[in-house]
Amino acid sequence: MDGEMVLAIDVGTTNSKTLLLDCRGRILAKRIIDYPFSIPEVGWAEQDPEIWWAAVKSSIQHLVADRQKNDIRAIGLSGQMHGLVALDKDRKVLRPAMLWNDQRAGRHCQDIYRLVGGREKLLSLTNNPMLPGYTGGKILWLRDNEPAVFAKIDKVLLPKDFIRYKLTETLGTDFSDASGTGLFDVRHRAWSGELLSILGIPAEWLVSCCQATEVVGTVSRLAAQDLGLSENTRVIAGGGDAVVQTIGAGAAAEDEMLAVIGTGGNITLSMPVCPRNPDSTTQVFCHVLPEKWVAMGVTLNAGNSLKWFLEALGAEEKAQAMAAAGNAFELLAREAEKSSPSAGGLFFLPYLQGERSPHTDPHARGCFIGLNLRSGKADIVRSIMEGVVFSLYDVFLHIGSREKGQRKVILSGGGAESRLWRKIMADVFAAEVVTRDNSQDASALGAGLLAGVGVGLWKDVSEAAEGIKACGKEMPDLETTAVYAKAFDIYRELYARLAPAFRHIATLDRGKIRGDRCASGA
Ligand code: XUL
Repeated sequence: MDGEMVLAIDVGTTNSKTLLLDCRGRILAKRIIDYPFSIPEVGWAEQDPEIWWAAVKSSIQHLVADRQKNDIRAIGLSGQMHGLVALDKDRKVLRPAMLWNDQRAGRHCQDIYRLVGGREKLLSLTNNPMLPGYTGGKILWLRDNEPAVFAKIDKVLLPKDFIRYKLTETLGTDFSDASGTGLFDVRHRAWSGELLSILGIPAEWLVSCCQATEVVGTVSRLAAQDLGLSENTRVIAGGGDAVVQTIGAGAAAEDEMLAVIGTGGNITLSMPVCPRNPDSTTQVFCHVLPEKWVAMGVTLNAGNSLKWFLEALGAEEKAQAMAAAGNAFELLAREAEKSSPSAGGLFFLPYLQGERSPHTDPHARGCFIGLNLRSGKADIVRSIMEGVVFSLYDVFLHIGSREKGQRKVILSGGGAESRLWRKIMADVFAAEVVTRDNSQDASALGAGLLAGVGVGLWKDVSEAAEGIKACGKEMPDLETTAVYAKAFDIYRELYARLAPAFRHIATLDRGKIRGDRCASGA
């Protein structure tokens, strides 16, 4: 048992992360490969699934090069949720995947509510809203806009399941990722046959589902040769990143809340029962733990907002970071520290790609409000970091306000690396904010721990997660909390006031923007 290892893969939006874990769940080595997503039109987001596979393949080859093949017991999977990977009958990818932050299917989601007979009926079938990022609306968009592609669809996969297919030649998914299609009845852990038939989506397009820790196959002969693995290596179903992160960040207890600042941002609460979703604004997914669920909300641009600023206006930080082999985001955060809480009255709304929660609005756009002649770069960067946290707090109030008692905030994702972001979070949430070791790798780590449980390296997830230690804690400061409470009230008002303007602006940005823009790896 001592030499046994697990490979853990996270198919992210801006990179793939592959970890090699030892039999105690410690990270022995890791490989991160950045890749871009393309924005063919405003609000769209696409990626060629083959770039995920190329990244995963080269990562595995690198990590196992000087290891004994037979020591790799299992491979665990996690990935960006909701993406639509369409395959034909020969298992060829028909078009670039439409991603979780792709907003083009807004109108089709409205059509779905109409076809089903309203929100309540849809809730009775899936206990979820139909959000533009979900897979269901994207399928109808393809039917109406790319009929030639639609006609050839034989299977619909989610991103991590495309990698599973490449590894094992098996088709399938797990309950957590299936939940994010909007076509899945999360109470009964099954596809909603009634919804599929109302929408005219053939049930055969959707793959079989299982628990996250289930062994779904072994590495195929072809993949084994290609990757340097044994054909006995078992592959475990894994789960959608937003849910798997609760395991890797050690945040699946019922008195904890997972907050993520990754490309997007999530607030995720683990639940012992399937929560009701009366206003249908919460994402309710099956957990990767048996008989548990999560209630969740997502702000679409968290780390991505700072990334946007870096690409657009951070040439100086990029050059400095390059010269000193430093981190450009850290340099931006240092700049932001020169400003003060509430950034001299400057607000940033992080709706750069529309928004999902609490405002399901594909037309929302990013804004700076409150600029004045004294506003400097420090205020601008700080307002971005604050705007992201305000947005997460808005999500929390939305999904968590029905909760009794305060949960401890566990912060994960790339943003958890920044002391300033952790501090802003503690002050805005007026709560203790804890980070755990390897918090930026929580999805991949969670996938690895689930895989180890799947092959019996650990008895259960609690035992698997024993090694996850707290590595930082920020406490709120009362004075700053009071400043942020006032600022948050203003922040909250801004969307309501601006929503009509966003709809007008949308009439301008319809149609192609210049070229096929890319958002490159963060
Ligand atoms: C979850 C969600 C994101 C993506 C990308 O609903 O949209 O967390 O999974 O990470």
